[in-house]
Amino acid sequence: MNMYDIILKKREGEILSKEEIDFFIEDFSKGQIPDYQASALLMAIFFKGLTKYETFLLTDAMKRSGDVIDLSKIAGIKVDKHSTGGVGDKTTLIVGPLAAACGVPVAKMSGRGLGFTGGTVDKMESIPGFRTSFEAAEFISLVNRVGLAVIGQTAHIATADKKLYALRDVTATVDSIGLITSSIMSKKLASGSDAILLDVKCGNGAFMETLEEATELGKWMVDIGKTAGKNMVAFVTDMSQPLGLTVGNALEVIEAIETLKNEGPTDITELSLKLAAYMVFLGHRAKSPEEGYEMVLDKLHSGAGLEKFREFVEGQGGNPEVTKDYALFPQASLSKHILALESGFIKSIDARVIGSASLHSGAGREKKEDLLDLSAGIILNKKVGDSVVKGEVLATLAANDQAKIQTAYDIAITGFAISSESVEKPMLFKKIIL
Ligand code: URA
Repeated sequence: MNMYDIILKKREGEILSKEEIDFFIEDFSKGQIPDYQASALLMAIFFKGLTKYETFLLTDAMKRSGDVIDLSKIAGIKVDKHSTGGVGDKTTLIVGPLAAACGVPVAKMSGRGLGFTGGTVDKMESIPGFRTSFEAAEFISLVNRVGLAVIGQTAHIATADKKLYALRDVTATVDSIGLITSSIMSKKLASGSDAILLDVKCGNGAFMETLEEATELGKWMVDIGKTAGKNMVAFVTDMSQPLGLTVGNALEVIEAIETLKNEGPTDITELSLKLAAYMVFLGHRAKSPEEGYEMVLDKLHSGAGLEKFREFVEGQGGNPEVTKDYALFPQASLSKHILALESGFIKSIDARVIGSASLHSGAGREKKEDLLDLSAGIILNKKVGDSVVKGEVLATLAANDQAKIQTAYDIAITGFAISSESVEKPMLFKKIIL
């Protein structure tokens, strides 16, 4: 078997076999296939596509290219929740405690943020003392003891995906549905959960901008997960404006705590409850998503979700008192308001622009090596559809560096559009794919 023949076969639109896909991934991982041949195959895949079964084979080969986490020592059905990435998405910090409070073990491996999307691990590290690096045995014992643990994704998960993604990034081959599906699902399948709930974001702050693209990606991921023997559900939800009112690490954790106190924004609260309800259903703790919803609503109202969050923070070395005293979080020394230039209704808040402004305030990374300012970010005062009066505060930027806050301001101010006519609020839930 050789790479030339595999590239030629895909270039001609033929279907690759398991042996050919395994050969490519195994030899590419070992550094035995030069980048120019791997790139040529990626481009052939980009133009000719992959069938769902080829995508499953590629996913499985990439999963096997690194460690596969064994969660069998955790009792119960382990449910993972994964968002395809958005701006201001802190739902994991709310959904995890709510589901765990209902008895679903949540063993979550999470990434760091890159570009305009944030990462759960970075957010949690804004809590003083919070650790996200644990040996496997410690991680498992934490989940068994607390019911919930979140660790940083190790470098050894789906190692072929890391190399392949870096190549896709520089060869204009990222946005191919088969390649995206296999990239995301190889990491999810390697993380060891029994069931996976996906939240596919849709809109200009997401990877998939249209409902059609997001739905298609959701269907592909659900099908690949099912073929791999997992219980799967995907939501398609709006990301045309940031989720909730905060973007930035400490700011988002505070908003998650407020939500667990039942004092959070409506969109974050509703999305978190629905996601948690499905986790409880997938974890066989409820007979239906509706019953799951009643259970998580009860955990929200009783404060059991917040209590689980505190246990989770303490379990990972963090100070649980942050839920009572937000001054324990890193604080930004500078702030700057963005004021409305006219009266009317908020027509749009461009999620991508707000994400970029947050990144430039210091809250995000342009390159993997960049250090974060965990206190920086943006607090929105308005959402799409809200009325606004000229001179009112639309949002407030937080940072510790004069140049950064100015850059963030210059970007963020372009993200708001005001209309003189009333504007309908965007629909948050677009689809559920079973
Ligand atoms: N996220 C991933 O992990 N991989 C992709 O290909 C796209 C988004």
